[in-house]
Amino acid sequence: MALWMLAWVAIVILPACQARLVPRVSFPSGSSGRLLSRFDSPTIGNTTTLLLSHDGETLFVGARDAVISLDVSQPGVMELKRKLDWFPTTKDLDDCSMKGKVKTDCPNFIRVLQFLNSTHMYTCGTFAFSPRCTYIDSQTFNLVFGPSGKPDEGRGRCPYDPYQRNTAIIVGERDSLQRAGGDGELYTGTVADYRGNRPVISRYLSEGNHIDLKLDDTLGWLEDPTFISSTFIPSEEKVYFFFSEEGREYDFIEKFTVSRIAQVCTSDIGGQRTLQRRWTTFSKAQLLCQAEKELPYNVLQDIVTLPPPDGASDDETLFYGIFTSQWSVNSGKSAVCAFRLGDIKKIFSGNYKVLNRDTLRWSTRVQEKVANPGECGLHNASDSDLRFVKENFLADESVLPIGKGLALVSPDQSYSKITAQRTRGANGKDYTVLLLLTESGFLHKVVLLDQGPHIIEEVQVFQQPQAVKNLLLSISKGMVFVGTSDGVLGVPTSNCSYYWSCAECVLSRDPFCAWDPNRKACADVTSIPADAGQDVDGANVVEMCKVTTITPRAKFGQHKPPTESCPPGEQVLVSLNEVVTLRCPEASKLASVHWERPNSRISPELYLQRSDGSLRFLATPVTLGHYLCFSTESGYQQTLALYTVKQNSGGASTGTGAGAGAGAALTTPATTPTRPSSQSTVKGVGPGPKTEAPKPTLFWRRPDATITFNTDRKFTGVNRPRLDQDVEKLEPAEGRSYFQELVAVSLMLALALCVILMGALYALRQKCRGKSGPQVCPRRDSEAGSLREQDPLTRSPSPTAAATGNKRKGLAQNGLVQNGLVHGKAPSAKNGSPRGSNGHLPNTPM
Ligand SMILES: *[C@@H]1O[C@H](CO)[C@@H](O)[C@H](O)[C@H]1NC(C)=O
Ligand SMILES: *[C@@H]1O[C@H](CO)[C@@H](O)[C@H](O)[C@H]1NC(C)=O
Ligand SMILES: *[C@@H]1O[C@H](CO)[C@@H](O)[C@H](O)[C@H]1NC(C)=O
Ligand SMILES: *[C@@H]1O[C@H](CO)[C@@H](O)[C@H](O)[C@H]1NC(C)=O
Repeated sequence: MALWMLAWVAIVILPACQARLVPRVSFPSGSSGRLLSRFDSPTIGNTTTLLLSHDGETLFVGARDAVISLDVSQPGVMELKRKLDWFPTTKDLDDCSMKGKVKTDCPNFIRVLQFLNSTHMYTCGTFAFSPRCTYIDSQTFNLVFGPSGKPDEGRGRCPYDPYQRNTAIIVGERDSLQRAGGDGELYTGTVADYRGNRPVISRYLSEGNHIDLKLDDTLGWLEDPTFISSTFIPSEEKVYFFFSEEGREYDFIEKFTVSRIAQVCTSDIGGQRTLQRRWTTFSKAQLLCQAEKELPYNVLQDIVTLPPPDGASDDETLFYGIFTSQWSVNSGKSAVCAFRLGDIKKIFSGNYKVLNRDTLRWSTRVQEKVANPGECGLHNASDSDLRFVKENFLADESVLPIGKGLALVSPDQSYSKITAQRTRGANGKDYTVLLLLTESGFLHKVVLLDQGPHIIEEVQVFQQPQAVKNLLLSISKGMVFVGTSDGVLGVPTSNCSYYWSCAECVLSRDPFCAWDPNRKACADVTSIPADAGQDVDGANVVEMCKVTTITPRAKFGQHKPPTESCPPGEQVLVSLNEVVTLRCPEASKLASVHWERPNSRISPELYLQRSDGSLRFLATPVTLGHYLCFSTESGYQQTLALYTVKQNSGGASTGTGAGAGAGAALTTPATTPTRPSSQSTVKGVGPGPKTEAPKPTLFWRRPDATITFNTDRKFTGVNRPRLDQDVEKLEPAEGRSYFQELVAVSLMLALALCVILMGALYALRQKCRGKSGPQVCPRRDSEAGSLREQDPLTRSPSPTAAATGNKRKGLAQNGLVQNGLVHGKAPSAKNGSPRGSNGHLPNTPM
């Protein structure tokens, strides 16, 4: 059994210790902590191609049968400026249906939308499975047809099938100084036929001496690829394509997917005899996102370019990609890997594999290198050189991620889209912030730290899974735009004012946010002239917020009632032998919660701390008294709640009333939770002597004490909770047989082992979450506002109950105004609703 337990520890606890990658704060849809701007319209759907104007004021959106422009110049609003309709004729639609296509797939889905030059944009759409492209006059927002007077043929530029992924980029319009004045050229990766099995990488709209180019049809250049994205690196004069495809170089029975980066030179004009009108500079390499001794995350989902920091070489350009795995061991998970341009260049200038045309097997090349595949400027090269290049296009080595490992692995989320940004922290250090969109509709904001990734927050951006989605970051506006089938959403990349105290501001580890000691607010780091309180790496609250620390040991060691150092918070009136649940409000999902009693121990025989942090016990003379709930995060401990559990002098029925009055919820197994009326709420606040005392209380009284009463101790009914067993364990058992005793002893032994294990687990968990640091009892006069830490609910995502509102009011009148109220952010009483009450002050029916 001990062995089994050890195995259990190894299997269950250790990985849990490693993979503590949980968003610290979560903002569900409609949360007031994150106000999203939204554009949706019944006439505009499938809004998935996003393009931001150079000034960042206008968002162009490719949709179904239309291109629209949205005014995004004002934060929080997104207004329709123009709509340009572009749809197939009835005849086109009939033809589409005739070909056996579903009617809903026949509209013109915009798949390419790019700036061409200073006056025009270029766009392509699937156009009823007959792709077309055309110009758009940026000024008038009208369609302009090319020289032929008709839309261009879109084959090779845009897929036929709206569900096929493609990539397109126009190069030259702004980036290319060497061809001043010319329009941009269109580089595309897509399938060039109706059936979707002729993948090509091509150049269109070629300028000057350039001619349109495409890939030679030779076997093996592309193997059933899924195109993901493309990017232009001006210093290299190369366009890079990212895709996944079948990895024919691996001799697996199973079809094996690999992720690739491919490159072409923008100066390419094809060969003179060999490779006429074909790329002479195409080469590809594998992107390997793999942790040591593990299966690779082999399927690229999205990838984004992060330009080098100011002053650094272009080789420091990074590509952050999301990868998933084709194997079920890693199904549902995804990994992020970063690749460095310098490493990619090295791989492309190294050796190449060679394909044996007879066996169709790849091998590492042994013959002498005649030419350098992937090198720019081969157009005058000899035929033999070009033939060599034509056959050697797969780099021998794979591109490995920076740090030779994964930047992060999601524990349970499939990420689908990514953006990356480098931002400067208060200490002058650059931090990489990733925004990752989950399949389930949450946007995760992650900062990459030396000790590993930290998910600062998650924001819910849609509720129904979306087939197609897009992310576009506007660094200048501090916004990220999310396009889905339903509409476009603007999400601010941060909302520092959500963090109400210095401690919360620092604990968030958000490099965009820092505590401004002058304004006493968490604000955008760029807006703080000096002394910004921020510690993204260490989250050291004590240092950053200059809070004084008191350890509870010292505090309790003085054998004073806690009223002296920390006055009583919530009063909880109970009758003996009732099950009491005390809740600890959740400020952060990364905090660990523990309970303490002055001069007493929270022994596991009498108390049950549940996974949500709440504490349960049977009210007995022993368990009456004070309870403190602490949360510890990054070694910083703060008091979240304080309760005084008192015996109700009245009978059970009056106890019930007082319980409800104290903002607690009363339930019996058979009844639905009752919401305390505002009348009883006020009453609940009133009776405590502490409210009458003019002396300001150090604690917010937590409104979320949940007490449940049971006059009938038999716990009948279907809602009988699992805890009953624990409760019954406390009762003396009678009439045991000898055998029963044996069983009991065995059980006790097992229980003891469990307790030891739980202890080990707890210690381990504490270790994972950071060392236990100084324990802080908030001080009223704390500059850093540790007092405000007592009020996580003010910013809580869900509306707070009438009870809370009224209580806050009561507190305000008592001079207990804290940050939340000063800033007018306290929930008003009129917001109270049954949902708020039951939603945020959860009852625990017994
Ligand atoms: C930021 O958070 C505060 C406090 O929760 C909220 O009142 C405000 O509306 C939020 N602002 C945005 C832009 O989300
Ligand atoms: C931009 O491209 C369009 C279409 O080729 C052309 O008509 C227009 O003159 C170009 N504008 C400039 C400023 O070159
Ligand atoms: C390549 O050939 C073109 C003509 O085909 C010529 O103008 C150019 O100078 C040649 N370049 C090199 C590097 O030989
Ligand atoms: C367009 O949006 C609808 C939902 O609004 C969705 O069902 C459909 O699959 C989308 N089509 C494409 C091609 O994305």
